[in-house]
Amino acid sequence: NGLHAKMVAKGRYYFGTAVDQNTLSQSVISNIVKEEFGMLTPENSMKWESTQPSRGQWRLDGGDYLVNYAQQNGKHVRGHTLLWHSQLPGWVSQINDAATLTQVLENHVTTLVTRWKGKIQHWDVANEVFEDNGQYRNSVFYRLLGERSIEIAFRAAAKADPNCKLYLNDYNLDYTSSKLTNFIALVNRLKAAGVPIHGVGTQSHLMVGNGAIPTFKNPLQMLHDTGLDVAITELDIRMKMPSDNSKVQQQSRDFQTVVKACLDLPRCVGITVWGVSDKDSWVPSTFQGEGDALLWNNNYQKKEAYTAVANAL
Ligand code: XIL
Repeated sequence: NGLHAKMVAKGRYYFGTAVDQNTLSQSVISNIVKEEFGMLTPENSMKWESTQPSRGQWRLDGGDYLVNYAQQNGKHVRGHTLLWHSQLPGWVSQINDAATLTQVLENHVTTLVTRWKGKIQHWDVANEVFEDNGQYRNSVFYRLLGERSIEIAFRAAAKADPNCKLYLNDYNLDYTSSKLTNFIALVNRLKAAGVPIHGVGTQSHLMVGNGAIPTFKNPLQMLHDTGLDVAITELDIRMKMPSDNSKVQQQSRDFQTVVKACLDLPRCVGITVWGVSDKDSWVPSTFQGEGDALLWNNNYQKKEAYTAVANAL
C-alpha cells in the first residue's frame, strides 16, 4: 500500500519519482519504486544532450531503459523534457537562423515523442522558459523564434502523440511573483491560440521552513484557475546540513502542507518527488551545504517525511 496506491485511492492519477538506469538498476531502489511509485520521470536520459548530442545522432537507449522498466512494471511515464535551455548541446545553441532552428526543434520533438508514443502519458514539453524575474529566458529558442518556439514544440508533440498530456513546466512558482503572473498569462495565451496544452507543472524545489510554504496552496490555486491539469513535478524540500530534530519535524510539516494543497484541488493530478533517496538526490551537488531533501535516507530507510506524506494521503 505505497504512496501511489494511496494517491489513486484519492482519485488522483499518480505519485511518482525521478529515476534512470543508474538508479533503477540498483535493486534496493527498484524495490522501493515497485512498491511506492506509479509514475517515473527520467531524471536525465530524455534531455537533449542525452538524446541528440550531435545533429542527427540519436541516443535513445537511456530513455528506452526507463520506458521498458515502466512497461514491465505497470508504471506511467512523464517525459522530460523537449524544449529547455539547459543540458542543451552546443550545436543547438550555435544555430543562428530561425528556419534551421524550427526544423531542428520540430524534428527533435517529433523523434522523441514518436519513439515512445502510447508509452508516455505526460510530456514536459517546455521547461523553465522564464527567468526568476519573470522575463523570458534568453535561450537560442527565444532569441530566434520568440514565444512561437513554445507553440512549435507543443504542436509537434501533439501531432506525434495525440493522446499524450502536454505540460508547461517551471520552477519558483511556489509563491506570488511576476514570474508566476507571466507564466499564467502565457498559459492563457497558448490556450486562446488553440495550442494543445493540457497541464501546468510546478517543480517545487523547496527549502525546509521557507516562509512561503504555509501559503503554498495560493499559487497552486492560481495555476489551477487556468482550467488545466496541475502537477507537482519535482518536489524536494532541502535543509541546511547538518540535520537536527527541529529541521526534521519542520520538513515533515512542509511535505504535508504541499501534499494537502494538491489534494484540496480536484485537478491536481499527481505529485512527483525528485528522486528516491537522499543519497541519489541532485541537491547536495547543486546547493552547497544543503541536503536531506527526499523521503528515504542515505541508507534507503523511510524518513519521518515519508510517514508525514503517507499520513497526508
Ligand atoms: C537535474 C538532475 O537531477 C541532475 O542529475 C542533473 O545533473 C541536472 O538536472 N529542474 C529540472 C530537472 O527540470 O531536469 C533538473 O534535474 C533539476 C531542476
